[in-house]
Amino acid sequence: MTRISVTVDGARYTDEVEPRTLLVHYLRESLGKTGTVVGCDTSNCGACTVHLDGRSVKSCNVLAVQADGHEVTTIEGLAADGELHPVQQAFHDCHALQCGFCTPGMIMQAADLVAHTPDLTEEKIREGMEGNLCRCTGYHNIVRAVQQAAAQPVPVMEVQP
Ligand code: FES
Ligand code: FES
Repeated sequence: MTRISVTVDGARYTDEVEPRTLLVHYLRESLGKTGTVVGCDTSNCGACTVHLDGRSVKSCNVLAVQADGHEVTTIEGLAADGELHPVQQAFHDCHALQCGFCTPGMIMQAADLVAHTPDLTEEKIREGMEGNLCRCTGYHNIVRAVQQAAAQPVPVMEVQP
C-alpha cells in the first residue's frame, strides 16, 4: 500500500491505496464521489473525466498515486457558493443531456475547454469534445451548451500550491 495525500473538491484526504488503484476507483470507492462515473474503463468514453490541477483527465487512465500532492476537482466540486458553474448552467439551459450518464464527464471536459481555449468556434468545440462519447447521441445540444458557456466569463479553477 502507498500513502497518498490529495485535495479533492477543496478537501484534503490522506489514504493508503494500492499502487494499481485507478484514480476513478479511489474517487468513487474511497471518497464516495460517485458523481464521477465509469463508462468503459479503457479511456475511450470520457465519462470519468475530472480535473487534475485544473486540466481535464480521464480518471480511469490515471493512477491514484499519480494524484498524490495534487488537486482534483470532480463534478461534485464544480459549483461554487451554491451557484452552478456556467457550463453546468448551460447544459441545463440547452437540454444538453438525455440519460445523463455522459454528462459529468462532458461538463468537466467542457469546463476545461472554455477556460483554456480562446476564440472557441464550433469546430474547436467538436474537436475538444471528441474524447467524450454520448450513447444517447445528444451532441447537437451539447455543442450549443458549450457555445453558450463560452460566450460568458468562465471561472478558471484555482489550483492550490
Ligand atoms: S471510463 Fe474513463 S474513459 Fe471511459
Ligand atoms: S446523455 Fe445519455 S449517454 Fe449522453
